[in-house]
Amino acid sequence: MSNDSIMKDLTKTPEEIAKMRVAGQLAAEVLEMIGDYIKPGVSTGELDRICHDYIISEQNAIPACLNYRGFPKSICTSVNHVICHGIPSDSKVLKSGDIINVDVTVIKDNYHGDTSKMFFVGKPSLQAERLVRVAQECLYLGIEMVKPGVHLGDIGHKIQKHAESNRFAVVREYCGHGIGREFHERPQVLHFGKPGTKEKLEPGLCFTIEPMVNAGQRHCRLLPDKWTVVTKDHKYSAQWEHTLLVTEIGVDVLTRRSEEAFD
Ligand code: MF3
Ligand code: CO
Ligand code: CO
Repeated sequence: MSNDSIMKDLTKTPEEIAKMRVAGQLAAEVLEMIGDYIKPGVSTGELDRICHDYIISEQNAIPACLNYRGFPKSICTSVNHVICHGIPSDSKVLKSGDIINVDVTVIKDNYHGDTSKMFFVGKPSLQAERLVRVAQECLYLGIEMVKPGVHLGDIGHKIQKHAESNRFAVVREYCGHGIGREFHERPQVLHFGKPGTKEKLEPGLCFTIEPMVNAGQRHCRLLPDKWTVVTKDHKYSAQWEHTLLVTEIGVDVLTRRSEEAFD
């Protein structure tokens, strides 16, 4: 199949898009809720329990991560040099100066909403603050490009250029993804690449952008737990993620939080 026809079978109907909006908003609300609990002394295991109970009891939704390919918890919590897929634990207690990514995916009415953001625990170092800001800029620059006719390679290139021009590095082994009834659908959304390459966006496509930006080298290592991804050089890493819909004229950020404005 050509890239064009691959995209056609991935676009969603108005009924499906309505469900994606609901799932996206629920995922965003979990991130809005958990912020107040992130402070020195709290464990990532406790953050997981709070999110789990909120998703189940308040949202009547399903935490998509729990038991996904054997993942043991309901959210991912990735602290400092952990790039992604950190497993919450009662023994991982946050301290001032830490940076943490909380990644939440909920299933509502069979559709997924997937989003993550960085939080500072107490006061961050200037370098950590800059890393977190540049990683968010990478996500926002990617989002701004989304409209019909744009190639995924255009978006990857833009993100890579922004990270590298700030002397940071983009992780290559993990990427964004199509999303819908399945957690991870086609297409793959790389956060690096060449303009004019890869799939061309079409109205009705839903996918995530979720750049992982490292303070040092781009290389990563998988811990023996088979989930936790860390930087090889143990320098800090930051990630932000939104679930997006390609519209006729541009983009809708399905997991937008109230603190965010997109035009
Ligand atoms: N939420 C992650 C993503 O952005 C995937 C986590 S999979 C898990 O795609 F199993 F680790 F939860
Ligand atoms: Co994702
Ligand atoms: Co995610």
